[in-house]
Amino acid sequence: MIAESTISQAVKDLFGQIEFQSEPAGLYDPLRYMIAIGGKRLRPRLCLLTYGAYADALGPEILEPAAGLEVFHTFTLIHDDIMDRSPLRRGHDTVWKKWNEDTAILSGDVMCIDAYKRIAQAPAAVLPQALALFSKTASEVCDGQQLDMDFEKRSRVGMDEYMQMIGLKTGVLIACAAQMGALIGGADSHSQQCLYEYGYNLGLAFQVADDYLDAYGDQKVFGKPIGGDILNEKKSWLTVKAQELGAAGLEEAMAAPAATPEEKATKIDRVKAIYDSVGVADKARAAIGDLSARAIGKASLARLDKESLDALKDFAHSLIGRTM
Ligand code: IPE
Ligand code: IPE
Ligand code: MG
Ligand code: MG
Ligand code: MG
Repeated sequence: MIAESTISQAVKDLFGQIEFQSEPAGLYDPLRYMIAIGGKRLRPRLCLLTYGAYADALGPEILEPAAGLEVFHTFTLIHDDIMDRSPLRRGHDTVWKKWNEDTAILSGDVMCIDAYKRIAQAPAAVLPQALALFSKTASEVCDGQQLDMDFEKRSRVGMDEYMQMIGLKTGVLIACAAQMGALIGGADSHSQQCLYEYGYNLGLAFQVADDYLDAYGDQKVFGKPIGGDILNEKKSWLTVKAQELGAAGLEEAMAAPAATPEEKATKIDRVKAIYDSVGVADKARAAIGDLSARAIGKASLARLDKESLDALKDFAHSLIGRTM
């Protein structure tokens, strides 16, 4: 087993070591910028945690794939911010806002390719499985992002459809991070599967928490604009749940125009008042807790020693701590 403190230090060090070529600067500067402005780095941390449950030492065969997961995730954020027309990320201007959309598209593309190069440094013995897992995950994230956009255009979305969508856009990458570490660490396939399911359920909890914070969070902490999901008419957990509960006036409020700053503020307040009328904020926190407990239940089915399971429980709690 690898100690938590060793993993934390490795996650910190990793990002000083992620380097991109210098020229053309117009292509690579946005990559350096996105890595430099930080992020929680949950996916590489999780990958190193599950690896550390089965292995005793860190080397490039796990550090490079772990970095690859963060690079891939960061690429999805660059493109997601174009799709969601979001001006703020990690407390700073988004790439399309700071440069332009063309730059955000191409820098995102090269970042996705960089991620593949890092995943491809997995040990030869597990490389085919690592690449298959990663490729399946990457295409599922695209499926989820398309459903997310399709749902903006629909007035109603059911909870089962919503859960499927967030499983794809967010769950599978966190699941992939958990399985990737176990795979490279030498875990048996049953344990790998249990850890995949742990990551998947944790990813669902994490996205519900993200939806909650998008309406009820503090922009300074969240690093993204509050109310963006409402302005984009996203079918967030809060909206889907409020619809399920028959909240009056929700569809009309979600469809209200939001061109000026005043209209935007009014729309956000109006939709949140409807959320509050059916108590969806408390229900979201309960759902996050249930999904996180389900994730821990899955991890407890893997062949793990007690310390490793405890580390995964702590990770789950830290992930959703911001909403509890
Ligand atoms: C944001 O992910 C996108 C979602 C899946 C909700 P994170 O909240 O992990 O973003 P960073 O990397 O910490 O900025
Ligand atoms: C994120 O969904 C999913 C991916 C980036 C793949 P969101 O659109 O909710 O993420 P944020 O809130 O912009 O980080
Ligand atoms: Mg999005
Ligand atoms: Mg977004
Ligand atoms: Mg969000």
